[in-house]
Amino acid sequence: MNNCSLISITDYSREDILDVLKSASRFEECPNNRLLEGKVVASLFFEPSTRTRLSFETAISRMGGRIVGFSDSSSTSTSKGESLKDTIKMVDNYCDLIVMRHPLEGAARFASEVASVPVINAGDGANQHPTQTMLDLYSIYKTQGRLENLEIVMVGDLKYGRTVHSLLQAMSHFSPVFHFISPRELEMPPAYKLYLDGLRIPYHEHRELDNVINQADILYMTRVQRERFADLLEYEKVKNVYVLRNSMLAGTKENLRVLHPLPRVNEINEDVDENKKAYYFDQARNGVYTRQAIIFKTLNLTW
Ligand code: CP
Repeated sequence: MNNCSLISITDYSREDILDVLKSASRFEECPNNRLLEGKVVASLFFEPSTRTRLSFETAISRMGGRIVGFSDSSSTSTSKGESLKDTIKMVDNYCDLIVMRHPLEGAARFASEVASVPVINAGDGANQHPTQTMLDLYSIYKTQGRLENLEIVMVGDLKYGRTVHSLLQAMSHFSPVFHFISPRELEMPPAYKLYLDGLRIPYHEHRELDNVINQADILYMTRVQRERFADLLEYEKVKNVYVLRNSMLAGTKENLRVLHPLPRVNEINEDVDENKKAYYFDQARNGVYTRQAIIFKTLNLTW
């Protein structure tokens, strides 16, 4: 196992988080460099992705590194029955760093135990998405000027949404107040509420968005994760339960920013896109700089 791996956001201390954010700012000023010259990064996506894969690959390319890998595991020997362990042991022979997305919770941790090179978790099932969280924190810091003492409203699929699980843990370093808005079927899992209880961080659960939107500094919208439902009839019942419309932003705080990890389906109406409080496309752009900073830290590079 390589101890530099990033599997869960809890692998990063408060200082690590601040260090990566500072470094991301430097990469935003200077994205094109040769810091990965001579390095090969394996990009293994066992589950679909647009932003995470392409922003990682952009980050690596802008740093002068080379990429091997796949975006569809059906074209690999996985389809012939090769195990994840054997796949990782092979890829480990070829590269300096593995970036992996997998549908099974715990798959990234398992890969990091098999590989000798570091592994970065690009999302494992409903569990964790730590690099998304780092770009979320970078976006929050850029728009609010601070991370401390913010009211964070999380909306939608809080049960299966791995981005809210990682974000909750990361923001816990910075004295937030959380509001969780979901249908009963998609509530924040008890393990995360216990985590907050242990840290004495306040959170409030609601069913309606209208009641709390005016208190928010950050409104973090999420998609209902169709692919995680065993019963699609259950998905149909809840898929459109919250839809943010431009008119709903009328009485909100001036500093409010609407974030979404994307992709969106129906949960943010397109009439929100032109509102200056809509930040989700800028948020996705921040993924390149943040992932450059994470790679920089993971490989212990120097400027
Ligand atoms: N936010 C996010 O993980 O998007 P992708 O699934 O497109 O990578």
